[in-house]
Amino acid sequence: MRTALVTGASRGIGRAIAERLARDDYEVVCAARNRTELDEVVAAIVAEGGRARALVLDVSDPQAVAASLTGAEIDVLVNNAGIGILKPFMETTAADWQRTLDVNVNALYHVTRAVLPAMIARRSGHVCTIGSIAGRGAFVGGSCYAATKAFVTSWSESLMLEVREHGVKVSVVMPGSVTTHFNDHVPSDQDAWKLRASDVADTVAYVVSTPPNVLVHRAEVRTLTVPKSRAR
Ligand SMILES: NC(=O)c1ccc[n+]([C@@H]2O[C@H](COP(=O)([O-])OP(=O)(O)OC[C@H]3O[C@@H](n4cnc5c(N)ncnc54)[C@H](OP(=O)(O)O)[C@@H]3O)[C@@H](O)[C@H]2O)c1
Repeated sequence: MRTALVTGASRGIGRAIAERLARDDYEVVCAARNRTELDEVVAAIVAEGGRARALVLDVSDPQAVAASLTGAEIDVLVNNAGIGILKPFMETTAADWQRTLDVNVNALYHVTRAVLPAMIARRSGHVCTIGSIAGRGAFVGGSCYAATKAFVTSWSESLMLEVREHGVKVSVVMPGSVTTHFNDHVPSDQDAWKLRASDVADTVAYVVSTPPNVLVHRAEVRTLTVPKSRAR
């Protein structure tokens, strides 16, 4: 059975990816900090006949990541954990800035560095990172978040060029607005126009299921029902 590791799997897009990959016959390691929410995700997957286990992990903690993931045999790594502190630069504190870089940028190093050697050694594996359309556009309040998502795109492409010769695929999935609790948002009827987390999960499932010689490196996923006030 193939194994997938999904970071930020306790809710939102990561939970939807974990549930979708479990339906596609992956054993899913669901990583995040909230044990209660992770246990709910694992229970939901098992209730559907899938296989999953919870991994309580702060991906921004290098020692914790190394202790739990070094040498792990993972077929598909989905780097999904991310935070968005959306504020104008002048209102962004040093702590906001550091936290966002720690989770959205530095954790990519810790987690990917831990599992990539085994992928390279067996000449197979897929690293799929959740970026954002924010990573290739500017908006007020996005100076830190959007920059971290630009990093995701740039890092993913360089990594892809480095490891494809070792049989390892690297992809980035870039969603538009998705109904989740991102940035402390409370989902409501006003979100009807947005993508659902399952829409992003379906894209990830496709990206990681292509034939061995085919790589979808970058996938941008948008809603068609964007309100005129937000169109750009
Ligand atoms: N929602 C959108 O509109 C949208 C659009 C484009 C891209 N994205 C990207 O999609 C990804 C998922 O976002 P979402 O919308 O699903 O947000 P969400 O509902 O807030 O979920 C974020 C997930 O990340 C986890 N997480 C946060 N910090 C973590 C840490 N230090 N260690 C481990 N896990 C951590 C959270 O779990 P714990 O709190 O339990 O740790 C949670 O499972 C992010 O990378 C985000 O940038 C979102």
